Amino acid sequence: MNGRLRVGVVGAGIGRSHIQAYQSLPDRFDVLALCDIDEERASDLAQQSAIPRVCNDLSELCRMDDLDVIDVCTPSHLHARHTMQVLDAGKPVVCEKPVAGSLRTVDELIAAERRSGKRVMPIFQNRFGHGLQKLKLLVDRGVAGSLYLATVETAWRRRAAYYVRWRGKWATELGGALVTLAIHAHDALFYVCGRPRRVFARTATLVNPIETEDTIAASLEMASGALASLSVTTGSSAEISRMRFCFSCLSAESFTAPYASASDPWIFTGDSPEAEERIEGTLTGFVPLPEGFAGQFHRFHAALSAGTELPVTLADARASAELITAVYYSATTCEDVALPIIGDHPMYAGWQPEAA
Ligand SMILES: NC(=O)c1ccc[n+]([C@@H]2O[C@H](COP(=O)([O-])OP(=O)(O)OC[C@H]3O[C@@H](n4cnc5c(N)ncnc54)[C@H](O)[C@@H]3O)[C@@H](O)[C@H]2O)c1
Repeated sequence: MNGRLRVGVVGAGIGRSHIQAYQSLPDRFDVLALCDIDEERASDLAQQSAIPRVCNDLSELCRMDDLDVIDVCTPSHLHARHTMQVLDAGKPVVCEKPVAGSLRTVDELIAAERRSGKRVMPIFQNRFGHGLQKLKLLVDRGVAGSLYLATVETAWRRRAAYYVRWRGKWATELGGALVTLAIHAHDALFYVCGRPRRVFARTATLVNPIETEDTIAASLEMASGALASLSVTTGSSAEISRMRFCFSCLSAESFTAPYASASDPWIFTGDSPEAEERIEGTLTGFVPLPEGFAGQFHRFHAALSAGTELPVTLADARASAELITAVYYSATTCEDVALPIIGDHPMYAGWQPEAA
């Protein structure tokens, strides 16, 4: 694959931000079609974004032979079904988070991706913020040393107006704040620090009268032996997202803007003058690529062109789904959960109360 990728987007909500990101990379992408069952919403967005084609049925989008990629931005409970449909049509897929409501479904998607020979890229755009990318560089170059502790906070504010249509329900949102909101920060933790091997958690519904949880406290033992603490709520009057990492050679503190905490400015503090020098020297070589959705799409294009690994893979979506499964299982049973979680686990087929 070389040159511009022709994209079709399904779902005109967050799809709007995806379209803006593709259109900010005009040498790499051309958005040719938009699909939504809400025809007026689709037509309005297509007109505002100068997208030539509109349809209201994903099958129609799948039949457009000139599309190279289809980007799934529909409500969460439709992601896996729509991803399968696009793979069956022989096209690569970009899919919003969460890609599925169970580890079993993620494993089915991994098998379908392998069979189809086409690739699936889940969305985790926060990975590409410049602050987090700098930390990743320091870790990968061995400048950070070994991790002792990571603290990850997602303290946002959501009130009744947010919980409309598909939100706040197990069947359609697939979970609560853990599945929809904090999923980005937890992916960022794994991206930089690797995966956990044990999880203990409490969840509660305290802020809004919804089916799913809105407040979580979780304690993780990472595969490296480091510890991590995750806290999440939709009841914070002042909204922040914050990540803090204590490594043997430095500590790193994120920006705290709720929806941009992976971006600059981050604070890196070396444990000695020599460590400070190594941090400074390493960050001199930092090459800033686009951030957010544009950052993920930029790298997606590069990976498809070069035939290399995608910037986010279904294996990453599986790690995310595994954490979600472990948190809900621990909160339900009060048990400390050992990872990995495989087919014999009581919540492998779904973490929603009715599925388990
Ligand atoms: N990555 C992020 O930062 C981010 C931010 C917001 C939302 N999201 C995710 O994006 C997804 C959509 O969220 P949203 O806020 O855009 O929701 P939304 O309800 O505003 O938009 C979803 C759109 O999909 C359309 N739709 C529903 N069923 C359809 C179907 N069968 N075929 C075609 N169109 C269909 C709806 O009409 C609607 O316009 C969710 O899974 C959410 O978790 C991700």
